[in-house]
Amino acid sequence: MRCTACHAPTSADRMGMAGRVVTRMLPAAVAGAEEVTGPGEGVADDGCASCHASDIEEVTDRDGIRVLHPACATGSPCIDCHGDAAHGDTVRVRRTYKMESCTACHQAEKATLECDVCHSAHTQHERLERGPWQVTHGSQWSQTHGLGSLRSCGVCHPSDYCVRCHGTALPHPPGFGQSHGDEAAQGLSVCTACHDADTLCTPCHGVEMPHPVGFLPEHSSIAGGVEDPTCTRCHDTDECVACHVRHVHPGNAAQPPRAGD
Ligand code: HEC
Ligand code: HEC
Ligand code: HEC
Ligand code: HEC
Ligand code: HEC
Ligand code: HEC
Ligand code: HEC
Ligand code: HEC
Ligand code: HEC
Ligand code: HEC
Ligand code: HEC
Repeated sequence: MRCTACHAPTSADRMGMAGRVVTRMLPAAVAGAEEVTGPGEGVADDGCASCHASDIEEVTDRDGIRVLHPACATGSPCIDCHGDAAHGDTVRVRRTYKMESCTACHQAEKATLECDVCHSAHTQHERLERGPWQVTHGSQWSQTHGLGSLRSCGVCHPSDYCVRCHGTALPHPPGFGQSHGDEAAQGLSVCTACHDADTLCTPCHGVEMPHPVGFLPEHSSIAGGVEDPTCTRCHDTDECVACHVRHVHPGNAAQPPRAGD
């Protein structure tokens, strides 16, 4: 097969390739650059399609994986999934598909997540020995299972699967921004197993949460007025004013009553 069948299928591509050779590859080769880049660029879909268009109209089933190109290959060029076509492992960056990239789109598009739809009966053993699932579930799983994209775990694990070891549902559910405080208030150590409070929690709150014991008598020295932006992140100023109006006698309120008293 001629190199140009893939690397420069049209005459415009050949002009572009000639341009890259003259402007980048030759100068780099002469000047002794370590990496002479150029040919990998511009492997456009046209070349692939000129031979393969009719092979990929229907569901294809190869090496134990089924795929429907007209639905699944929309939005990405062929080489995103077939970067190893022709050159195999010798390309510097071997770009190919993995289960996460399929299931992420299928989840978003509400397409099927049934295992057997993508996995035909002839799955090669090799497939179980590489890929992200192998990293997160291999012999080092207890150290490595958090490395993956947690959004991908739900394909196989319901979110309460993680509760038995972590004490909280993962990935954090929608609406966690509002609900996380209640959970944290029940036991901060659940959260600090994964998060550093000083770098994640406090900068967002602006103050220590939950407010520490003795905060009420001290808050007058912490807040710069009832409209302090640190406080109005969470409090409506009306909440502050209501209490001040009801309870505060100027210069005479060293120990204010607790809310609800
Ligand atoms: C069947 C299609 C096809 C043919 C034929 C082909 N290539 Fe490629 N080539 C590719 C693809 C796909 C890539 C990877 C592109 C990517 O991932 O960005 C590539 C990448 C390259 C690279 C860059 C490698 C790297 O590590 O980045 C070089 C150099 C190259 N090809 C040279 C050639 C030469 C020389 C020929 C002819 C002997 C040839 N190719 C024939 C498809 C082809
Ligand atoms: C000049 C025609 C031609 C071009 C251009 C071409 N292919 Fe192929 N391709 C073939 C032939 C022939 C086979 C072998 C088919 C067989 O074994 O039944 C093949 C096989 C494949 C396979 C099957 C797996 C394999 O590696 O054997 C894939 C995937 C593939 N090509 C992808 C591509 C991609 C992606 C491009 C564009 C970068 C491309 N091809 C460009 C002719 C072409
Ligand atoms: C860009 C989003 C997207 C990506 C990425 C994607 N798919 Fe799909 N896939 C879809 C959609 C949408 C459908 C449903 C099409 C329909 O029902 O007409 C589908 C359908 C399928 C079908 C046919 C289902 C059936 O009912 O027969 C298979 C098989 C499949 N995908 C496998 C894969 C595999 C394997 C990958 C990864 C290599 C993948 N898909 C990546 C969007 C995607
Ligand atoms: C989302 C990933 C994805 C994209 C994008 C994609 N493919 Fe595929 N392709 C697959 C998968 C998965 C298979 C089946 C398993 C395998 O061959 O590795 C496959 C198989 C093939 C085969 C072999 C078909 C057979 O019956 O043997 C050809 C040829 C092919 N693709 C060409 C293309 C061409 C041309 C493009 C660009 C128009 C393209 N693919 C884009 C995922 C993709
Ligand atoms: C949308 C298509 C799709 C669905 C649905 C799907 N898989 Fe996969 N799966 C793949 C692809 C593609 C690969 C990657 C194969 C490779 O890397 O060679 C894969 C790989 C795997 C692997 C090998 C390890 C890895 O990370 O690559 C396992 C195990 C696996 N799948 C199990 C399952 C199970 C169990 C289900 C059902 C809950 C499932 N798959 C559903 C497409 C799918
Ligand atoms: C059998 C008990 C167990 C289950 C079930 C479990 N984990 Fe873990 N997980 C651990 C342990 C133990 C560690 C600490 C590993 C270490 O520090 O070396 C950990 C660490 C993590 C980390 C990294 C925390 C850090 O320090 O950065 C993440 C993220 C994580 N798990 C996510 C999950 C998710 C998501 C699930 C559910 C799909 C899950 N875990 C289920 C035991 C478990
Ligand atoms: C393809 C399906 C699949 C996906 C995707 C998946 N898992 Fe699993 N996972 C399994 C199976 C099967 C088991 C073993 C059965 C069991 O113990 O419930 C398991 C077990 C585990 C265990 C327990 C290990 C033990 O020995 O107790 C942890 C922790 C775990 N998975 C974390 C994750 C995390 C984190 C993710 C996302 C990055 C994830 N899993 C994605 C299928 C999957
Ligand atoms: C993105 C910003 C943000 C981050 C990061 C954040 N929080 Fe919060 N937190 C809030 C907001 C907003 C509230 C007020 C929610 C409400 O009650 O309406 C809150 C409230 C709280 C409360 C008070 C709940 C109550 O009713 O007493 C606690 C406790 C808390 N967070 C703990 C934590 C911990 C622990 C972390 C770090 C692991 C953390 N938060 C990280 C924004 C954040
Ligand atoms: C097993 C590890 C783990 C545990 C335990 C955990 N988290 Fe997380 N948390 C994460 C990971 C990973 C992310 C980022 C990914 C995501 O959004 O799910 C995150 C994200 C967050 C965010 C969003 C940060 C932002 O910038 O948007 C907040 C807030 C948060 N966690 C609070 C908590 C609180 C409160 C607890 C205790 C109830 C807790 N987390 C327990 C792992 C954990
Ligand atoms: C439970 C009742 C209560 C609530 C609610 C309350 N305060 Fe106060 N606040 C007091 C009392 C009592 C004093 C006087 C304490 C002192 O001087 O020692 C005070 C004093 C202050 C002062 C110093 C006096 C002044 O007016 O400059 C500031 C600033 C202040 N509060 C800000 C706030 C803000 C901001 C909020 C709302 C986020 C708030 N307070 C909510 C009871 C309350
Ligand atoms: C991250 C959100 C958040 C921020 C920021 C915040 N608060 Fe609060 N605050 C709360 C929540 C939630 C409660 C209710 C706690 C409870 O019911 O236990 C509360 C309660 C209070 C109370 C009543 C305490 C009591 O003991 O009754 C006062 C007073 C108060 N806050 C003042 C302040 C002041 C002053 C600031 C600014 C320096 C501030 N808060 C910043 C969330 C916040």
